[in-house]
This record gives sequence, C-alpha cells and structure tokens, in this order.
Amino acid sequence: MYSTLLIAHSILRWLVMLSLLYSVYRGWQGISRQLGFTETDNSLRHWTATIAHTQLMLGIVLYTQSPMVKFYFSGYEDTSGEALFFGVIHIILMLVAIVIITIGSAKAKRQPADVQKFRTMLTYFSLGLLIIFIAIPWPFSPLAHRSLIRY
Ligand code: HEM
Repeated sequence: MYSTLLIAHSILRWLVMLSLLYSVYRGWQGISRQLGFTETDNSLRHWTATIAHTQLMLGIVLYTQSPMVKFYFSGYEDTSGEALFFGVIHIILMLVAIVIITIGSAKAKRQPADVQKFRTMLTYFSLGLLIIFIAIPWPFSPLAHRSLIRY
C-alpha cells in the first residue's frame, strides 16, 4: 500500500506541475493577446485545481503510512533533515499552495470580464506553482531529495 501510494504521488506530481504550467501560460497568453476565456480555458482552470486536490488526498493518505513521518512523530530527538521536511515543511507548504490554487480557481470563475479571469488564474496559479516547486523533493533540492521517477 505504502509503495503504491508513493509511486502514484510521485507520478501525479508531473501532472500537477504540467497543468499549472499550462494554465499560467494560457493566462499570460489570454492577457497579452486579449483572448476570450473559452470553455477550454474554463475546463483547464477546473481540472488544474482538481488534479491538485487529488494530489492533496493522496498526500494525506501517504502521510498516515509514511515511515519517514512515523519517525518524525516517534519522539526520537534528532528529527531534523528529511523527517522534518516530510513531517512538517512539505505538508504545510503544499497545503498553502493548494489553498491558494483553490481560491484562485473560485475567484477566476466569478470574474465578470475575460481578462480578469485570465489575470486571476495567472496570479494565483503562478504563486501556487512556485510554492509547489519549492516544496517538491527534487534531486537538486537543498531541503530533501528523491528521484525524478519512482517505479
Ligand atoms: C501538489 C501537492 C504535492 C506534490 C506535487 C507532492 C509531491 C511529492 C513528491 C514528488 C514526493 C516524493 C515521492 C518519492 O519519494 O518518489 C512526495 C512525498 C511525500 N509527500 Fe507529497 N506532494 C504534494 C502534497 C502533499 C501533501 C498535501 C502531503 C500530506 C498531507 C504530502 C505528503 C507526502 C509524504 C508523506 C511523502 C513521502 C515521504 C516518504 O515516506 O518518503 N504531499 N510528495
């Protein structure tokens, strides 16, 4: 169960990143070229937030199974480094990012003008993407590192 969840969580990270990147690109394109906010853009907004929510659900289940998190809460004195990262930093940053994405998605939906929809999506999703990028344990991250693909 733990390793299946970890593999799914690792793969889904790419979908989270790609959907956010594409939404940000569409937001920027929509503003600079004064495009209309189409049904496709609305679906992109909706699915980007949904993919992030799915990753959140997976993350919460993984949190209850992870030996790294169990070690963090074990009461062992030296819970710094990776245990601290997965026990506290990763979850807090990801929660903040997903709340920002959720607010941005809801706000964008309610904006009256198309340019405002694009701007809201661009602003909130960029901020969410930046926080998620910082909180992912990339092989080059100074906080904690994991491989790019897990199988
Ligand atoms: C967009 C949100 C998130 C992204 C992109 C993300 C990404 C990742 C990645 C890439 C890993 C490393 C997987 C590997 O070892 O191959 C990881 C591990 C982990 N994540 Fe997330 N995560 C997100 C949200 C969350 C949330 C909200 C939680 C907790 C509620 C969480 C809990 C964990 C845990 C417990 C681990 C594994 C620690 C271990 O046992 O090694 N993640 N995450």
